Amino acid sequence: MVAKPDCIRVGVLGSGKGSNMVALAEAATLPDATFKVVTVISDTAGAGILDRARERGIPAHYINPGQFRTKLDAGAEARFIEVLREAKVDYVALAGFMRILKDGLLDAFPKRVINIHPSLLPSFPGLESWKQALDHGVKVTGCTVHFVDAGVDTGKIISQKVVEVLDNDTPASLHERIQVAERTIYPQVMNALGRGL
Ligand code: GAR
Repeated sequence: MVAKPDCIRVGVLGSGKGSNMVALAEAATLPDATFKVVTVISDTAGAGILDRARERGIPAHYINPGQFRTKLDAGAEARFIEVLREAKVDYVALAGFMRILKDGLLDAFPKRVINIHPSLLPSFPGLESWKQALDHGVKVTGCTVHFVDAGVDTGKIISQKVVEVLDNDTPASLHERIQVAERTIYPQVMNALGRGL
């Protein structure tokens, strides 16, 4: 896939079904888009995100994450960096990537790695944030796009969108509405970054 010369080039990392990647890829095809999704990488063999990328003609790579459960081992991290550099990415967008990134990859793309998280950070970092929101009985939650630093969901916040928690919400119904909100703000943020904001 060849990016328009004035578009920033985005590499997407994900472990799951890839609905955020699809939202980004589809927004990137619109006439006013300022970004292109140029490569997709997953740490999970057979992840839906890889199929969704290939269906759209976006190069998709599975990279074995190595021996650890929550991070990449050194060899895997080097391979991720290599693939992202080969694709000449300007930004790395995490979209349901369920491993903590360490200095190697963050230093390779300084202030250029962003993430979408399914809560209004700093509330409910970590896993299954929609369940955390229900367990705490909050009345609103939402999603956050933020720069990634070496902490867990701690980097500088770029944008947030509020989602109301309904009395009859289940974890699945709340997560689904949060994901609808995610699919709005992630492309908005990428377009803003592409405009140099
Ligand atoms: C999204 O809801 C994203 O916010 C979440 O994983 C889901 C991935 O869905 N990420 C995290 O929880 C990261 N801590 P997707 O594969 O359909 O985009």
